[in-house]
Amino acid sequence: MTTHIVQVEPFDLVVFGGTGDLSYRKLYPALFRRHVEGQLSPGTRIIGVSRQRITREDFAAAVSDALKRFDPAHAANSVALDAFIAALDYIAIDAGGDMGWADLHASLGDDPTRVRAFYLATSPELFGKIADRLALHDLITPAARVIVEKPIGKNGASAAAINDALGAVFAESQIYRIDHYLGKETVQNLMALRFANVLFEPLWNSGHIDHVQITVAESIGVESRAGYYDKSGALRDMVQNHLLQLLCLVAMEPPASLTADAVRDEKRKVLQSLLKIDSRNASDRTVRGQYRAGAAFGEAVPGYVEEVGDPQTFTETFVALKLEIENWRWAGVPFYLRTGKRLPERVSEIVVAFRKVPHALFTGTAGKLHQTKLVIRLQPDEGIKLWLMIKEPGPGGFRLQHVPLDMSFADAFGVNGPEAYERLLMDVIRGNATLFMRRDEVEAAWSFIDPIRQAWAEAKEAPRPYVAGSWGPSAAVALIERDGRTWVEDGE
Ligand code: BG6
Repeated sequence: MTTHIVQVEPFDLVVFGGTGDLSYRKLYPALFRRHVEGQLSPGTRIIGVSRQRITREDFAAAVSDALKRFDPAHAANSVALDAFIAALDYIAIDAGGDMGWADLHASLGDDPTRVRAFYLATSPELFGKIADRLALHDLITPAARVIVEKPIGKNGASAAAINDALGAVFAESQIYRIDHYLGKETVQNLMALRFANVLFEPLWNSGHIDHVQITVAESIGVESRAGYYDKSGALRDMVQNHLLQLLCLVAMEPPASLTADAVRDEKRKVLQSLLKIDSRNASDRTVRGQYRAGAAFGEAVPGYVEEVGDPQTFTETFVALKLEIENWRWAGVPFYLRTGKRLPERVSEIVVAFRKVPHALFTGTAGKLHQTKLVIRLQPDEGIKLWLMIKEPGPGGFRLQHVPLDMSFADAFGVNGPEAYERLLMDVIRGNATLFMRRDEVEAAWSFIDPIRQAWAEAKEAPRPYVAGSWGPSAAVALIERDGRTWVEDGE
């Protein structure tokens, strides 16, 4: 299969936090791959910005090193690498002070039609300050846009404050709030699966679906991010954004169109229909865990407490939740969500489990009837499996087997799709906000998350321990087994 590359107009991308980890690991490699694919037009510029007083050459060398480290295959193409490096510039700027802003203005010029995107890959505390300075220095043209990374706040109130600060100088249509899960190929495929096929949508409701599971498991621990993570925890780091966004795409009504607002209206309605979880029901509907020493990748690894160096920390590295969406389509269908670090493998999967057939026609030697399940695997090995019952081949009566119709995207298309940041960055330049979160969505997600955190704080209970390399605390298994169901593991 060939990929279709449509070049984007030349643009200026200004990366605040331009010497940070996210920029080196994700942003520059993503832009570089788009450059290798021929999607960036000549004249495009990428301007790294940070407080560090380094030269353009130092910056270019650091980016070049990062590309060789994080994308050695493409970086081996020295012609492409040199051309990409030539598009880089660097300006030292003090986000809260005056240093460097005039230089940025001079560098960007005054063309009101040329797209300029400000990527705020900084701590959220700086979002407001940077927005103010961009306005003060007259840098916000009609074609300007701003991209902000999660976390957008640490609760509803702080998210609203950030949104107010951005909204004071940018129109909502100029603000691109990134949730990189929305840029993953298979996540977008969820929409294709639901709305480009006649097969599933008629069954996509409580009449036919028994329950839904969403698992985002990571095998890594908190690594070098303990400082950030210990103030966040899995609920804020993963559930408030990535898992709830996945839930929205599974559960939303068909939007009237694929325009940004039509899709985001439907997602917001899902968030607003979630049954509230607070101190009255949190103990039945939530489980939080924290990993202890164990094993990962065949080696002994320390526990979370040792990694952050605080024996008193209550930060959760694992969450399991049982959610209900109180609307016509989903009444009575539980959505089980779980995510955690130091689980046995890195896997993100959505499982839609259908109801049993109404009448047991096959009895005796036929064997057990399993549920029809649709398993959408986001990573690794993106693909879709539809588990069905079929007759075992051969004579001797009806024996049934549970087998998957299995479509691996890599096998089917022979290409690996672009990474999330590649897709999302190009969408920003093209002005397509469908895969970004609108203000009201972010705030609706916090309205759901805040009472859970409050319930946990009031309960004053430590997270439940689990051994690194296991599937989380046993209470997470009990959460679903109490309802006569089990977590799907190994895609089956
Ligand atoms: C980030 C979280 O948003 O997503 C990290 O802050 C997490 O803690 C990461 O590791 C997971 O992303 P991916 O794309 O590797 O599944």
